[in-house]
Amino acid sequence: MSKSKLKSLKLKKATLQKAKAKQSNAKLRINKKPKKNKNRKFFLVKGFKDILPEEQKYWDFIRDKAINISRAYGFKRIDLPVLEETELFVKGVGPDTDIVNHEMFSFSTLGREKVSLRPEGTAGIVRAYIQHGMLNKPKPVKLFYIGPMFRYDKPQAGRYRQFYQFGAEVLGADDPIIDAQLIYMVYQMYNSFKIPINIQINSIGCKTCRNKYIKALKNYLKKNRSKLCADCKTRYIENALRVLDCKQKKCQELILEAPQIVDYLCEDCNKHFVKVLEYLEDIEVPYILNPFIVRGLDYYNRTTFEIFPQNEEDSSQSALVGGGRYDKLVKNLKGQDTPAIGFSMGLERTINSLKKIENLKIEPKNKCDIFIAQLGERARKKALVLFEKLRQSGFKVAENISKSSLKSQLESANKSNAKLALIIGQKEILDNTILIRDMESGNQEVVPEDKISKALKRRLKSLNIRKNR
Ligand code: HAM
Repeated sequence: MSKSKLKSLKLKKATLQKAKAKQSNAKLRINKKPKKNKNRKFFLVKGFKDILPEEQKYWDFIRDKAINISRAYGFKRIDLPVLEETELFVKGVGPDTDIVNHEMFSFSTLGREKVSLRPEGTAGIVRAYIQHGMLNKPKPVKLFYIGPMFRYDKPQAGRYRQFYQFGAEVLGADDPIIDAQLIYMVYQMYNSFKIPINIQINSIGCKTCRNKYIKALKNYLKKNRSKLCADCKTRYIENALRVLDCKQKKCQELILEAPQIVDYLCEDCNKHFVKVLEYLEDIEVPYILNPFIVRGLDYYNRTTFEIFPQNEEDSSQSALVGGGRYDKLVKNLKGQDTPAIGFSMGLERTINSLKKIENLKIEPKNKCDIFIAQLGERARKKALVLFEKLRQSGFKVAENISKSSLKSQLESANKSNAKLALIIGQKEILDNTILIRDMESGNQEVVPEDKISKALKRRLKSLNIRKNR
């Protein structure tokens, strides 16, 4: 055998051995995987929540009212994806914000796009406004949205990693009356929920006045740096305004003595703010001036506001609503210069406040007036058809058609809070009749089957129950 052939054979052998070793290592690795526990149950991911059927009536109540009121004010619904390019939030919300720095669920897709679950709605709205050429629509463009947002926040009461916001944005108007009207609309929403609130308002001016203010604030903080909490020592360098948001007691004490941004507003920003406050007074919206509402997102300018529940002990941790002007955001995201303002309402927090209202009574949406019970196979078939007939005529009907015992069906009727039960038994099948029982008084009446709708209308009218047409 030639030398070169021998060399190539040796090489082949070595490669084969390597490949075999790789294979057995891979097997070892597979074998090393922790054994799967077949009986393992699954639970929610930390910071995420289920909204169970019993909870839905509160969600329907808040959502329906917020949607109806915003529609009455001329807002149109927009639904956007929960996933956007990460860069949109970095540019939109700001690279030095807590949200972008520590709180985004970001990942690369299989196609290597860098994406994030939306931590808030405004950046997406502006992206859609530009992408769909909405700047050509009559101004202002008024949009509302409702849906989940995601922030990798420390889970605690009122703070989740997936939470829902109702938001409204007005694009293309810079008049201070728009600011006042938007705050008025949120105020009316909370009035309709019957949740007492505090509206806290501020102006953070434009870039020029804000830069002057930040200089003064930094000067003040520099002198008191040793008294700041560890986080604020970094905030002071990276984004001094964030120090004003700090919830630590020692920082809050320091902040009270800090210079206030309203003293640094330029003439135009001051005029705008004074006008907003005048309008709010004219329409009798109660507000509190809070010079420290600077908001945690970078896109804001001029008017900023937050809404807190009135009756909660530590309401500083639990803003129900946050909002403000963001006149430069559309341009920063490469659209045309378009002033804008908006707010978002945290739905979990709003529902928590709603549940604290004394004697709160909210009926579920699928509440029924009539329950159909049956006895025997023929009656059961009749009940199947009767249910559909009554439903199509606009009655609120319920049944438990898989049950055959009359007793258990009447128990279901009681639980459903139906006012009337319709009973179809052997006798009713033979006579082509239906028995109507008043669930409260126990009074019974037998009516011919073809007169049932009329009889139900009459009875419900006398019970003062309005039909759901
Ligand atoms: P934001 O202040 O970050 O503003 O959020 C608005 C509201 O969402 C908060 O007041 C709070 O009720 C709720 N929220 C925020 N984070 C959480 C959380 N981790 N768990 C539960 N609820 C939470 C924005 O998102 C801006 N996009 C508002 C805006 C719209 N500004 C102009 N237009």
